[in-house]
Amino acid sequence: MFYDLPISLNELQALCTACHLSVKEVIVQNIHELSNKTFIGPGKLKEIADQLENDDLVVLSEAVSPLQLKHITDLLKCEVIDRSDLILRIFESRAQSKEAKLQVEIAKLEYMLPRLIGSNEQLYAQQGGSGFRGSGETQLELDRRRITKRIVLAKKQLNKIRLERQTQRRKRSHRNMKQVALVGYTNSGKSTLLNCFSSKKVYEEDMLFATLQTASRKVSINHHDIIMSDTVGFIHQLPHHLIEAFQSTLEEVTEADLILLVVDSSSNYYQMQIETTLSVLKDLGVKDTPVLYVFNKADLTHLPVLDYQPGIAVSAKEGTGLSLLCKQIETMLFKTHLKTYVIPYADGTLFQTLLQNTDVTMIDYKENDIQLTCSIDESLEHLYQQYESRSN
Ligand code: GTP
Repeated sequence: MFYDLPISLNELQALCTACHLSVKEVIVQNIHELSNKTFIGPGKLKEIADQLENDDLVVLSEAVSPLQLKHITDLLKCEVIDRSDLILRIFESRAQSKEAKLQVEIAKLEYMLPRLIGSNEQLYAQQGGSGFRGSGETQLELDRRRITKRIVLAKKQLNKIRLERQTQRRKRSHRNMKQVALVGYTNSGKSTLLNCFSSKKVYEEDMLFATLQTASRKVSINHHDIIMSDTVGFIHQLPHHLIEAFQSTLEEVTEADLILLVVDSSSNYYQMQIETTLSVLKDLGVKDTPVLYVFNKADLTHLPVLDYQPGIAVSAKEGTGLSLLCKQIETMLFKTHLKTYVIPYADGTLFQTLLQNTDVTMIDYKENDIQLTCSIDESLEHLYQQYESRSN
């Protein structure tokens, strides 16, 4: 509904750039009936074949069947890949941690499995009668078994890492820290936003899928310590193998107390990007977690887009809108009450802790004591109960 041809082609070009491929030509075919054998019509294929030079790569915007891909490759006599394959290659080139590498490997092997016959049909036919296979197994069956075994092993290794992460998360929740996950379309500014709150910087770049690894930081929001996590960016038609494989990284999202859905509000396609993100969240099983829409890159647009609520316009790059954002995060995460405390001058330490742990709105230095009005978290109220002003 939101995804039309210009968006799809723009995005495909950005994906090519992210994969360090330069785009020579974009070819579009208006077709009423798809070809069963080659998807694209034979005339168009010939036209493409005539333009190809050595080392050219053809990227298809649509997903085609493994057999159709093989027929197209045979006709064009060059490497042909589809959008899913392109995304997998980007992920593969970005994966740095052991976890990300395993996740991408699993996704790639699962993508390859049904495509084995397409790529090696001839080879399999030749080896069909050879003496290498045991007990009637074909080479294709052997390869499938080998790949399946590798997938099982990689999933086991990934599970081990997942359990370690779960233990870490449990430790944090024991410390009563709320978890906030930054999610959103790729390149919307999630990493830049996290860097606004933390001095321990995460990687940010004007490139699709700069972040593959969830990065969590302890940050302070209006005196509350919380954990904020930057996650892998989403994209329309994200290959489902990738979503499955990245499930463990995305547990930071499924277990969050609050989701900040970061939107590039300067993009013409921001609605499609929001809908895609919401749909991936649904696929991940996120149902009841509160969502706060963060309309980022407000410096690039004159029209504040606040048609999704609750929403705050910010510029992570210029640092604007952040105090409103903090206030909204606080409101959604914590139950706070406005209280006035009466503190004797002798109790300077108490005064200091209130300054540090609450959002002070007024301080009145009286003759015998200090009267301090602040918004305080419900969980801290019992600590200062005896100093509460009677007029509260
Ligand atoms: P992925 O890793 O692909 O998911 O990207 P991301 O959402 O983490 O985006 P990132 O923070 O890497 O930012 C992408 C680009 O947008 C970078 O070039 C940032 O400098 C730029 N950017 C982020 N926030 C803003 C903003 O508020 N205004 C402007 N003008 N640019 C921004």
